[in-house]
Amino acid sequence: MLGAMGGFPGLLGEKIEPLTQNLLLPWAAMSGTYLQSSREPVLAQPEGRTKLADVLARHQIDALVVFGGNGTLRHIPPLLAELGVVSIGIPTTIDNDVPGTEATLGFFSACDFAHRTIDGIRATGHALQGRIFTLETLGGDTGYIALAVAHSAGADVVLIPEMPYEIAHAAARLKSGIEQRGQALLVYSEGLQDKQAMLDALRGLTGIRIRDSRLGHAQRGSAPSHYDRWLAAEMARHALVALHDGHSSGIVCVEQGQTILRDSLAGMPPRQPDARLYRWINALPREDA
Ligand code: F6P
Repeated sequence: MLGAMGGFPGLLGEKIEPLTQNLLLPWAAMSGTYLQSSREPVLAQPEGRTKLADVLARHQIDALVVFGGNGTLRHIPPLLAELGVVSIGIPTTIDNDVPGTEATLGFFSACDFAHRTIDGIRATGHALQGRIFTLETLGGDTGYIALAVAHSAGADVVLIPEMPYEIAHAAARLKSGIEQRGQALLVYSEGLQDKQAMLDALRGLTGIRIRDSRLGHAQRGSAPSHYDRWLAAEMARHALVALHDGHSSGIVCVEQGQTILRDSLAGMPPRQPDARLYRWINALPREDA
């Protein structure tokens, strides 16, 4: 088994090295990726595709295991199939926004990271009463992390890019949190529009001190949780079995808690956050009520 350092640019640049268990085992406990990654779309150009065929032949590589998020897994596997390259995809992003899978590698560790920060914020909120705390999570233009974390942390309000919100309602929820327990928490996703205006409006409407924290890129580099380690091992197992069984293309996904192999993600609608959960956290009336 070989590893290409830095994604497809690394593969095309022949930054290729043998992957051994000795090398990789410590990485089970470490943040991020030994292989590094890239956002450069080197296969978009015909020269990139020609180079790929050349490198795969020269290094006698007969299959690729492709790790990536939504963009990579929707575009690269069909392209590889067109080029006759055998590949299995593994959804790897903290954002959890890949269609066709309930879970992507990294999401649960990123949520754990947010919880550690919220635990600290709650302790501070207990000591310094009468403040509203707001926390920005990563998530790109999606709100899965914010929604999941807000739910399990018992936040008063969650705001995500996919859902509209009423600032007066959010302000009233936060004010009532302060009245009931002396502290209130709003979790929002980085992709939310006009974040500063939202925070300013809350200050104006509540008249309460608001302290904002941002998790930023530290959240991408959080230590792997047990579930993510399990998922990594299970997705890797499934990908290898698929290759041994002669599949020429596929994406390892999670369905009802189990790994499955999908032929591709083509035609799958974008994932939608759970609207019921969003309404529950924000104490909005049930849509079916
Ligand atoms: O890979 C997705 C992600 O972790 C998003 O949550 C985040 O917005 C982004 O990466 C950060 O990377 P960049 O700085 O390249 O936008």
